[in-house]
Amino acid sequence: MPRRSWLFTPGTKPERFTRAAEVGADVVIIDLEDAVAAGGKAAARTAAMDWLSQAPDGHTGRALRINAPGTAFGLEDMLALLHSGAQPDAIIVPKADSPDILRLLDGLLTQAGKTARLIALIESAGGVEKAEAMARATPRLDALFFGAADFAADLGADCAWEPLLLARSRVVQAAALGGLAAIDSPYFMPDDDPGLRAETHASIRLGFGGKAAIHPRQVAVINEALTPSAEAVAEARRILLESLKGVGVVSGRMVDEAVARKARLVLAAAGETAVE
Ligand code: GLV
Ligand code: MG
Repeated sequence: MPRRSWLFTPGTKPERFTRAAEVGADVVIIDLEDAVAAGGKAAARTAAMDWLSQAPDGHTGRALRINAPGTAFGLEDMLALLHSGAQPDAIIVPKADSPDILRLLDGLLTQAGKTARLIALIESAGGVEKAEAMARATPRLDALFFGAADFAADLGADCAWEPLLLARSRVVQAAALGGLAAIDSPYFMPDDDPGLRAETHASIRLGFGGKAAIHPRQVAVINEALTPSAEAVAEARRILLESLKGVGVVSGRMVDEAVARKARLVLAAAGETAVE
């Protein structure tokens, strides 16, 4: 299943949970953390557990962003999950900065018979510092997710592309180290499609394979950017054929096995298999 677009939906708006799937989001993230004020946490938690206890639609992934595990809200979220019939596909762990906490959550989920995968949301200086250790913390971990807004606030930096470039690259490298997916932060201007498109392409060039959305209208732009074009697929096929010779040239560019590795990723992102 593709995992290009990850749409945040506040846990306080259960009527929107199913609608997220209707706009084509690959994954809907039910948010119990920063989109929910303290007074709404309990109701959001109940709504999330109810919805996640129902049968999935079979094609939209369902993720749950709990509160940070080091907070009382986060502990309450975990306990509610463990004692419920909820079966999210993934738990997004915000403010992640500790491999031990990821292992602890893994153990709790195992005891409760939950198959949910873990995703570490890296959004602090400490999180970036520990990204590599977290990437190898547990086989339950599926992805590293970069959180730009919190990370910028942690540094006192602008929440813009250039000031956060190093951290984004470090998250992608740590994900590669653990053989994990890398998911990029949302773009926070919901009405700016050209800006979203440009940032998503920049994320892809860094190595991200997914991007979060904070508004349903962002989903189509993200899905399109993360779906290789017909030209990119055709070029990847030419590269694979040419590289069978060892070294060759495609579109004026030298190709060899290293270039072929990237071409295989393009075909995989397009849902196609390489014919060799
Ligand atoms: C996401 O949680 C962010 O802080 O950007
Ligand atoms: Mg955050």
